[in-house]
Amino acid sequence: MPVDLHSFAIPEEARVRHLRWKATVDFRSRTIHATATWEIESNTLADTLVLDTKGLTIDHITLNDNQPTGFRFAEPDALLGEALTIMIRPDTKRVNIVYQTSPDAEALQWLQPQQTSGKQHPFLFTQSQAILARSWIPCQDSPGIRFTYDADVQVPEDLLPLMSASNPQRKNSTGVYHFEMQQPIPAYLLALSVGDVSFQAVSERCGVYAEPVALERASWEFQDLENMVIGAESLYGAYPWERYDVIVLPHSFPFGGMENPRLTFATPTILAGDRSLTSLIAHELAHSWSGNLVTNATWDDFWLNEGFTVYFEHRIMEKLYGRDYAEMLAVLSLQDLNETLLTFKAENKEQDTCLKLHLEGRNPDEGVTDIAYIKGYFFLRSIEEKYGRAKFDAFVKDYFSDNAFSAMNTEKFIVYIKKYFQSHYRLVLEDLKLNEWIYDTGLPSNCPNPVSGKLKKVEAFLEKWNSGEKPDVSVGREWSTHEWLHFLKNLPEVVNLEQMEVLDNFGNFTSSGNAEITTLWLVMTIRNQYHQADSKLEQFLINTGRRKFLIPLYRELLKSANGRDRAIEIYAKARPNYHFVARNTFDALLK
Ligand code: BES
Ligand code: ZN
Repeated sequence: MPVDLHSFAIPEEARVRHLRWKATVDFRSRTIHATATWEIESNTLADTLVLDTKGLTIDHITLNDNQPTGFRFAEPDALLGEALTIMIRPDTKRVNIVYQTSPDAEALQWLQPQQTSGKQHPFLFTQSQAILARSWIPCQDSPGIRFTYDADVQVPEDLLPLMSASNPQRKNSTGVYHFEMQQPIPAYLLALSVGDVSFQAVSERCGVYAEPVALERASWEFQDLENMVIGAESLYGAYPWERYDVIVLPHSFPFGGMENPRLTFATPTILAGDRSLTSLIAHELAHSWSGNLVTNATWDDFWLNEGFTVYFEHRIMEKLYGRDYAEMLAVLSLQDLNETLLTFKAENKEQDTCLKLHLEGRNPDEGVTDIAYIKGYFFLRSIEEKYGRAKFDAFVKDYFSDNAFSAMNTEKFIVYIKKYFQSHYRLVLEDLKLNEWIYDTGLPSNCPNPVSGKLKKVEAFLEKWNSGEKPDVSVGREWSTHEWLHFLKNLPEVVNLEQMEVLDNFGNFTSSGNAEITTLWLVMTIRNQYHQADSKLEQFLINTGRRKFLIPLYRELLKSANGRDRAIEIYAKARPNYHFVARNTFDALLK
């Protein structure tokens, strides 16, 4: 197995197979008290089991049915935490660890009632990817190491706990809930949420959890969940995790979505009210195959998770809403990618534009960029375009089933695809620029060129707009979110105040309830000193936790006149609402 430099585990000596987790969630002390019992397999010569931990306090550790044993912590590493070495014996089958989490465990976000939509109850949710699972469960926190789990979790009576496992659909009177995940998963897919949420079914195997005030809106927005699963299955094989549910989390959730198995965690910013942002759900659903079933072996191979997932996401959207729709997504993302490539070049970070990354000693978070997602997507699409869909789809389907429940790294992938095309089609993969895509910076010359008729019309409109000619503004009434996004992204950088007002009247951007549109517009208002939007900006920065939206806004503020002071002032108010990963980003940006 390839070496994972972000974990202290030594699986060749002793590795985990199953976790039994018994936990009590205590909102008052902001800690989880738990016993983690690991069923392990070890090499007969091994006398230690090494686990990853970060900030955990160990009460005691025993082996099998309660035999005392010794353990030691290594010196803390700021990024990776503290390796926990536990003495084991040749007959050790189980290791029982009684421990508690730290109140500032990085994977855990404890929300006060005011930070939820309902404002009555506290909320807790986890975010384990990439290397934060170790801050709430002592584990072998490496994507190449899989295990099954079951759990018994005790929570306050008026709250419902949910995990990346079989889930309850309503509260019970005991406050104790049982969970099972019978398919082996890596630690970064361990997840827990505890809050006042209710469930609504969308179909037999799909449903939505949300705070009661958001449940109606959420289940309306996700009406197509079942169709997405059916569409995905028709492309690349049966859905392997039984149920597919989505939970809409409070605003501070720092991502768009997180593919926790059986239960996607989602940002409330996707509730646009018109179902226009649901490709995010297609994305998290696609991870049920790319990522959760076939998993990147190390974070240097992250593009295998995300590139495949964006490709699959676009195919699901095409299946449900047509080629035109999917091509809009592709055109929009290619523009983002090109901008990211320019930024990386300007910042002397061109090395990070290779698909295969080198994150040794760095936070895997630094690999979460358009490169893994969008360059990865276009690489796979370039193969599809060269050999045709029929061949490529058969390949992807077999890639998932041949490698199910195991880890894949970039080098294994290259061997697999070459062998597949050779043995199934008698084709030698050439002229693909495979190595250039994977190991070189920038974009190879065979990058596909998506075309969207709808967005071309927006471009024609923009041309008139920019030349001062009066275009027919009534066309805006027909535009979908993606057309508006394309319009905003392609306006000139500098717009005078009079024109800003005309624009605002045209698109009603300042009052938009769509977070994607709001973000692009607010960037423009900062750049062009359009102060009518100032209070909207402040309110948006305080009430949104999704890093993707916050980053461009703080960056733009930093560039503008007096913007640094303003950014720092708003950040002081907003910071208590942000998740650890967002605080991490903005503490560095605003230091
Ligand atoms: N798995 C990622 C989120 C992630 C990646 C969390 C790395 C921590 C470390 C998830 O599937 C994702 O990609 N989310 C995107 C949405 C998507 C539509 C591109 C996001 O959160 O913006
Ligand atoms: Zn993803």
